[in-house]
Amino acid sequence: MSPILPEPRPDLTGFAPYRTQQMKAEVRLQANEWADPNPAARYLSAEELEALLLNRYPGAASELHAALAERYGVAPDQIVIGNGSNEVLLYTFLLFGGHGRKTLLFQPTYSMHARLTQTAGGTVADELIGLPYALPVERALAAARRHRPEIVVICSPNNPSGTLIGEEVILSVARALPRSLVLVDEAYADFAGFTVVPRIAGQPNLVVTKTFSKARAAAGLRLGILLAHPEVAAMYRAVQLPYNVNAITAAVGAKIARDEAQVRRRVERNRTERDRVYAALRRVASIEAFPSETNFVLFRLKSGATEDVHARFLGESVLLRDLSTWPGCAGCLRVSIGTPEENDRFIAALAAVFGAAVAA
Ligand SMILES: Cc1ncc(COP(=O)(O)O)c(C=O)c1O
Repeated sequence: MSPILPEPRPDLTGFAPYRTQQMKAEVRLQANEWADPNPAARYLSAEELEALLLNRYPGAASELHAALAERYGVAPDQIVIGNGSNEVLLYTFLLFGGHGRKTLLFQPTYSMHARLTQTAGGTVADELIGLPYALPVERALAAARRHRPEIVVICSPNNPSGTLIGEEVILSVARALPRSLVLVDEAYADFAGFTVVPRIAGQPNLVVTKTFSKARAAAGLRLGILLAHPEVAAMYRAVQLPYNVNAITAAVGAKIARDEAQVRRRVERNRTERDRVYAALRRVASIEAFPSETNFVLFRLKSGATEDVHARFLGESVLLRDLSTWPGCAGCLRVSIGTPEENDRFIAALAAVFGAAVAA
């Protein structure tokens, strides 16, 4: 006999969990992480660990805020920290979205923006851009005027297309809807050398999120940030959970935030490796590969099923992300850039799966 269960909010009945593809594989290129091992022991000495007292609630993370403020040229009170950027994204939809309010998304884009909009009780207005993903100012403005959203999300560079949406587009939308929030998700911006953070000062409805999970090589740390006008940041602080970032994450995060030389080195290596992976994909006649500014490349099969191709790569112990169910992404798979050795494995698997000569 099935038990009698409590009833969730009707709009969340049957809401499925966020799906990640967690099959076993030697080469894991499905989650856009940084592939080189980054052990925690690199960041905290035995003495620093001794001084981290877990019986107390975490302090104000002032060292982390100071490092980030210096890096991004903002005041410490313009920074909101979170348990991954997903947490500061959730705050955004709780604060500016919710019942009777709309989020405008340019699809295909990072699926959590839609999920978190719904979790907060709001409605998604999808504008289907498709692939290749290009968003001219007029198209963005027309969508903003048509939907009159309370939140507009622009992911730049965009996941999964890998393409940049320029500052002009972002600012035009922000100026057209001064009472709405324009959220720029810059999770991959380091790889592209792009940011609109300097524009926040003159455009208070602009907020920017960043993550430690990509070019900062710390997805397991769970640290993300939001940069906002001081008065907007204060709105976030009002809804933020107390002590949402733990003491260990804050201590390690402060060290990583000051490690810009490593970020530059990774960005450089990523560019070389991405060029190699992209060139190999381009040599396969039955694939359309999309140019990328990030640490992943999206490609579309001209024929055949993504499930089959995904399974055949898995047969070579290479795990990719099947994105064929994302809006406008029929036939698409995404490969993250790995270590040079992992990329060699991907390129060899590409030859095996498509029976083509793909090596340079
Ligand atoms: C565009 C985008 N934003 C945010 C995130 C989530 O980042 P975090 O690990 O900081 O929660 C991802 C993760 O893949 C992403 O692709």
